[in-house]
Amino acid sequence: MVIDFQIGPEEAIALEEQYGAHNYHPLPVVLSRGSGVHVWDIDGNHYYDFLSAYSAVNQGHCHPKIVEALMAQAQVLTLTSRAFHNDKLGLAERFLCKTFGYDKALMMNTGVEANESALKLARKWGYRVKGIPHDQAIIIAVERNFHGRTMGIISASTDETARADFGPFMPGYQIIPYDDIEALEVALANPNVCSFWVEPIQGEAGVYVPEDGYLAKAFALCQKHNVLFIADEVQTGIARTGKMLACDHENVRPDVLILGKAVSGGVYPVSVVLADDAVMGLLKPGEHGSTFGGNPMACTVAMAALQVVADEDLAGNAERQGIKFRHRMQALAERCPHVLAVRGKGLLNAVVIKPTNDGRTAWDVCLKLRDNGLLAKPTHGDIIRFAPPLVINDEELEACIQIIETTLLAF
Ligand SMILES: Cc1ncc(COP(=O)(O)O)c(C=O)c1O
Repeated sequence: MVIDFQIGPEEAIALEEQYGAHNYHPLPVVLSRGSGVHVWDIDGNHYYDFLSAYSAVNQGHCHPKIVEALMAQAQVLTLTSRAFHNDKLGLAERFLCKTFGYDKALMMNTGVEANESALKLARKWGYRVKGIPHDQAIIIAVERNFHGRTMGIISASTDETARADFGPFMPGYQIIPYDDIEALEVALANPNVCSFWVEPIQGEAGVYVPEDGYLAKAFALCQKHNVLFIADEVQTGIARTGKMLACDHENVRPDVLILGKAVSGGVYPVSVVLADDAVMGLLKPGEHGSTFGGNPMACTVAMAALQVVADEDLAGNAERQGIKFRHRMQALAERCPHVLAVRGKGLLNAVVIKPTNDGRTAWDVCLKLRDNGLLAKPTHGDIIRFAPPLVINDEELEACIQIIETTLLAF
């Protein structure tokens, strides 16, 4: 049975308004189709997608090889739960371990769940291996972090919007400034610290790229103090920044690696935690789990999606197109008073917008971009993230740059 209710854009938005929780503030556009970097709204208008579902659709919308894998598996077996083995889980775990160079993988569904899982692992390692006294483990997190929205995760957030009215919060965190090696060194002196938990580039915060060498120095300090370095690469991973992992830019191999989003190319929720036996081996039956985690659909889709990243050299393309994009945006900044800053790596970039005297902001820029055929979303009021699918080619990128230039010069 195919459900095909035809509705118009106003009705679609009105239905969400009436029947859905208002936990997002979407740009007013109702999408109904996607292919590669292209999406279309209900009325058939075409747009370039410059958000990629927050970097989940790195392989492009509806990549035929990923969709084919999904459909084939959907007709055979969808879910067994982990009460039984299934014939795809081991294959996917091996694929993930070989791709990223770890002993073991723990498959979950969403990015936030993978983060929660990593924190549990870190605490357990702290007690069982490092010998931290019972219930005293400390996880170091950084200011402006974003790792998702569950209670344990927002307990480490410094974003008041994410926290207000949701307390009491989980204890056991120490928050230090991002990109501050001295602050990390001071915090690591506490013997109860079990892990340092960080995004290699802060995506949600507005694409903050740390100083060159920060990750490598932080990793070395963690090793010196016998502390696990946990990298949340949910947004930066899977070729987004021009290498398979953002940590690869500094030859850092995190003790615990967290992936999500583009692990599935955006066609199914798949996340994963990777670690070696010394850490992952600590988990025993009953201590952690998820009904859907590691199901055959997720496994099949993840293998297909990661194969596409390798076959199509999406990391190389992200690197090349990213250099071009930033170069043109920097040139634009010199001509356009509303562009205050341009930053990013690979195809994870941001432009900081100066509001107009009459109060128009990055939101208004995004509305104009939409009118001109490109979809992007502001974050924190004045920052626009530009993160197209990594399959974008030269002509498409050129067309998109021209839309952005025209829109900003007319703002
Ligand atoms: C770095 C990072 N970690 C975790 C998450 C949460 O992922 P999910 O929304 O799949 O739970 C996000 C989402 O944007 C993210 O950017």
